[in-house]
Amino acid sequence: MLGRSLLNFVLLIVAVTCATAQHVPPWTEDCRKSTYPPSGPTYRGPVPWYTINLDLPPYKRWQELITEKAPALKVIVNSMKDVVNAFVPSGKIMQIVDQKLPGLLGNFPGPYEEEMKGISDITGIPLGEIISFNIFYEFFTICTSIITEDKKGHLLHGRNMDFGIFLGWNINNNTWVVTEELKPLTVNLDFQRNNKTVFKASSFAGYVGTLTGFKPGLFSLTLNERFSTSGGYMGVIEWILGKRDAMWIGFISRSVLENCTSYEEAKNILTKSKLLAPAYFILGGNKSGEGCVITRDRRKSLDVYELDSKQDRWYVVETNYDRWKNPFFLDDRRNAAKMCLNHTTQEKISLSTIYDVLSTKPVLNKLTVFTTLMDVTKGQFETYLRDCPDPCIGW
Ligand SMILES: *[C@@H]1O[C@H](CO)[C@@H](O)[C@H](O)[C@H]1NC(C)=O
Ligand SMILES: *[C@@H]1O[C@H](CO)[C@@H](O)[C@H](O)[C@H]1NC(C)=O
Ligand SMILES: *[C@@H]1O[C@H](CO)[C@@H](O)[C@H](O)[C@H]1NC(C)=O
Ligand SMILES: *[C@@H]1O[C@H](CO)[C@@H](O)[C@H](O)[C@H]1NC(C)=O
Ligand SMILES: *[C@@H]1O[C@H](CO)[C@@H](O)[C@H](O)[C@H]1NC(C)=O
Repeated sequence: MLGRSLLNFVLLIVAVTCATAQHVPPWTEDCRKSTYPPSGPTYRGPVPWYTINLDLPPYKRWQELITEKAPALKVIVNSMKDVVNAFVPSGKIMQIVDQKLPGLLGNFPGPYEEEMKGISDITGIPLGEIISFNIFYEFFTICTSIITEDKKGHLLHGRNMDFGIFLGWNINNNTWVVTEELKPLTVNLDFQRNNKTVFKASSFAGYVGTLTGFKPGLFSLTLNERFSTSGGYMGVIEWILGKRDAMWIGFISRSVLENCTSYEEAKNILTKSKLLAPAYFILGGNKSGEGCVITRDRRKSLDVYELDSKQDRWYVVETNYDRWKNPFFLDDRRNAAKMCLNHTTQEKISLSTIYDVLSTKPVLNKLTVFTTLMDVTKGQFETYLRDCPDPCIGW
């Protein structure tokens, strides 16, 4: 719910604090090489797979996964509560979340309402808190997404999921509290109908939307947060006031992955639907030229920037800034990623060299929870948990 200027202001404060605390560490580095297969201090470990059976009623779909992950989910929901209570110590806000939020927001469309109710009942976490956990990602996801095309027209899609800024810093080991707590909740999901994969996603247990996923053979999709002064909070207010024609961004991505059957159909929906919050959709297809960054306002698409082999545009990169504007000077992951892609060259691009780019600071930073690599035509989908030991920038 933050405008860009507020984000920048807070980053500046954090930067000054970090700089004085640890006398200006090297926050950037030369493009990494030979980091794949993942190992060493920036690799935390593998991510487990779970099947979500779409043939089950929505209320029951998450039962197995959530039963296993309930303790970790409680930890993070409590941390988010602590943050809220730190701002408004009376506990009033959480009281409203628990008692009033489900009523205020009314029913969510599609399977989401019942899925969240199921998760709430299994864990015993109040529905309002599960809804908050699901809404959080609409506002705080700071990421890097890349789509590349090699000389043969083969597409690859990679992303770093960065999450947890503002939500508390652990001074014992220089980490973000929520970023660390999300690592044990990180899961790969295989959504199936009739025992067959419909789409795959990497996500956090308890979250029913999708921010990272692909449909084997057809398309891949990642979502990055877009900060804007007419930001998501306006959409939420309109929603509460009863104007419910717009889609939550994490939910529209899931619907597209679940129900669209081509790159073109996905692109059409993602450019045209009304959204609750601004966003960047990074969409890849299954053949040459099918890769784009869609810059979204709440009501319309502002820009669709596509791969174009005729113009030697063999990659697209999106972090959290409009491509026609400079990134905030303390957060230039975009140029770092582009520089390393240029350095790699189109001849040498592969999942392994994309992992190198996504492992280079500050593209890799202390908010990075995981890295996902996707090859739509080969059906490859890999997710790795990350760490960024000191010296490493906070975002
Ligand atoms: C930092 O400390 C927290 C809390 O003790 C722990 O959960 C987390 O795994 C630690 N992170 C690293 C990278 O050591
Ligand atoms: C899916 O597979 C399981 C076990 O292999 C089987 O029991 C079940 O009937 C199958 N379901 C469908 C919808 O085909
Ligand atoms: C996908 O379409 C089916 C059939 O129309 C619908 O029941 C389901 O809710 C849709 N899924 C999502 C995530 O919107
Ligand atoms: C690529 O996607 C299109 C739909 O956009 C589909 O018709 C076609 O079969 C796909 N190609 C392959 C090789 O899977
Ligand atoms: C990467 O290469 C392109 C094309 O040569 C160039 O326009 C761009 O400035 C380069 N970017 C960086 C960050 O090196």
